Amino acid sequence: MSFPFALTEVVEGRARLLVPDVPRRKGPGAKGPHPFYNPSMTVNRDLSAILLARWPGKPTRALDGLAATGAWGIRMGLEAGVPELGFVDMSPDAAVLIRLNLERNGLRGDVFHGDLRAHLAEKRYDYVDIDPFGPPTPFLGHAFHAAPTPSGLGITATDTAPLCGTYPKACQRRYIAHPLRCDQGHEIGLRILLGYIERVAEAHGKVVRPLLAFAAEHFFRVHLHVLDGLQETGPQAGYYLRDREGTFHRVDPREPEAIGPLWVGDLGDSAFVRSLAPSEWTSAAGARLLDSLQKEIGLPPFFVTTDEMAKRLRASPPKLERFLTTLRAAGFRAERTHFHARGVKTDAPHDVIVAAFLDAAASGPTGD
Ligand SMILES: C[S@@+](CC[C@H](N)C(=O)[O-])C[C@H]1O[C@@H](n2cnc3c(N)ncnc32)[C@H](O)[C@@H]1O
Repeated sequence: MSFPFALTEVVEGRARLLVPDVPRRKGPGAKGPHPFYNPSMTVNRDLSAILLARWPGKPTRALDGLAATGAWGIRMGLEAGVPELGFVDMSPDAAVLIRLNLERNGLRGDVFHGDLRAHLAEKRYDYVDIDPFGPPTPFLGHAFHAAPTPSGLGITATDTAPLCGTYPKACQRRYIAHPLRCDQGHEIGLRILLGYIERVAEAHGKVVRPLLAFAAEHFFRVHLHVLDGLQETGPQAGYYLRDREGTFHRVDPREPEAIGPLWVGDLGDSAFVRSLAPSEWTSAAGARLLDSLQKEIGLPPFFVTTDEMAKRLRASPPKLERFLTTLRAAGFRAERTHFHARGVKTDAPHDVIVAAFLDAAASGPTGD
């Protein structure tokens, strides 16, 4: 087999993959002349493999929709035990490379060279994965139109700058939503993405239930159950305003500065997420992220950061652990959040959060 590029072998999870031997930089991928492989997405595939192995109703026919080297679809087969695998990529080199990688890993699968949107009009799967360069928006209508109910959908978005409010006009254009650049920008961005996905699902008579949605590195990732819109309850969208104190309030959509529409429901199914465990193939970074997501699942939307609180209250930021302990001692749930290194998610009311912060700040060494 000859390619217009050299190949090298990488081991990721349980898979041994041939990938183009080209220089890689950290961060989001961009279209290039070679089938794309991004090692910084290992953590994404790690968590996806853990989830898919425990997916309710266990998918039997899964599609790696934008497959590139086939890395994720091959891990679906090896680590989640999915028996029937499909792969689509519009690059002819990618299709050849995926077949090589299947063989290398002792797997069988159907590899299609073409446009995912046309493919979805013809074939049915009970789990479809969409992992594009940038936004998933061009593929969502096709995916929901084709999705049986119930079925599973995995969606990645790497256009975090518009979603997190760095480019609000692009966010408005693409997701028809108003973001906000602030400490909570990543959670807002993830909730804008989910809110948009929900609206597309609704337009196709379906509803979505996130099994797990999170932010990591340079991407957002959502894993959804797709259900029949006639049998399930409807949208969970809302708008928020962030006041001068940094507190979020639900507001009417007509409020000029309203952030949203946002998904206001849970970012996952708490019982399901808590039941997950890293596998022997999960990277250390993947296991750390899962642990953090399990701790914060089920807590209300948004969080405070010690940076912001210290500035506003003119106090030195306490050690995060001490702040957490003080909130818990007051009888509330409090956890670090994966969205921000100095963020705390809690179900405590605002006055308790302020009192706990000042209490923690007054006793002992500061900062993290
Ligand atoms: C970000 S890469 C996918 C990475 C891959 N999922 C992984 O885990 O390594 C996006 C891939 O989508 C392919 N692609 C882009 N538009 C497509 C389309 N409309 N139909 C099929 N493949 C497409 C590109 O050729 C590229 O290989």
